[in-house]
Amino acid sequence: MEQRSSSETWTAVDRYIEERLIDADPALERARRAAEEAGLPAIAVTPAQGKLMHLLARSLGATRILEVGTLGGYSAIWLARALPSGGQLVTLELEPAYAAVAAASIEGAGLDERVDLRIGPAARTLAAMVTSGEEPFDLVFIDADKRSTPEYFARALELTRPGSVIVVDNVVRDGRLISPDSGDPDIEGNRTFHERLASERRVSATTIQTVGAKGYDGFTLALVNAGG
Ligand code: SAH
Ligand code: DHB
Ligand code: MG
Repeated sequence: MEQRSSSETWTAVDRYIEERLIDADPALERARRAAEEAGLPAIAVTPAQGKLMHLLARSLGATRILEVGTLGGYSAIWLARALPSGGQLVTLELEPAYAAVAAASIEGAGLDERVDLRIGPAARTLAAMVTSGEEPFDLVFIDADKRSTPEYFARALELTRPGSVIVVDNVVRDGRLISPDSGDPDIEGNRTFHERLASERRVSATTIQTVGAKGYDGFTLALVNAGG
């Protein structure tokens, strides 16, 4: 094999995986293109990661899913596609302009009846959801501003039940997770999150490092324990 940088190899392997394991999906491809054309940041999950979230939702038999950080709706479409009819994805987005792109793509995928897109700062929306006694979610995907991950995770614990799964994206960030003096509030958010997780008895959790078209990063998977 010709010499390539590690990140070129990771991207090429992601392409290899996509060609074999990810079915062509016009609605997902349109959603990615619409986000790009609208100038949204190119930070949506990769197809392989989107499918992982989709498979996790199906494995859990999830009927209620919560997503924090919608962007252009790419991961939302993967998640909503895992729901049975009558299931609901609630997805939270700060930026009205991003939410408008997402809403159009979700509608284009024929999923608008299953997706409840709520615009505003997620901390406020989540607090309101706790207060209003929202039904528990089976799966939560936390993928918004990383500095607020500890707060979103605390809210997710209030909005789930034993057996629910909480996935947190982008926790490793090129290994900066272990830098104590990064001066970066997003890294500090991931560090505080892990320090709290270390003593959090309500969940059993692990963090997996990943490489791929989006570089070197990782995610945390937490299972809500019984009797917590
Ligand atoms: N889950 C998406 C990507 C989300 S990117 C996908 O994979 O397709 C992170 C998103 O979080 C951005 O759209 C950003 O606007 C949003 N965000 C940032 N701060 C937020 C906040 N305080 N409340 C809600 N959403 C926020
Ligand atoms: C960023 C956010 C994400 O959700 C992601 O997957 C990658 C990068 C970011 O804010 O830089
Ligand atoms: Mg992410």
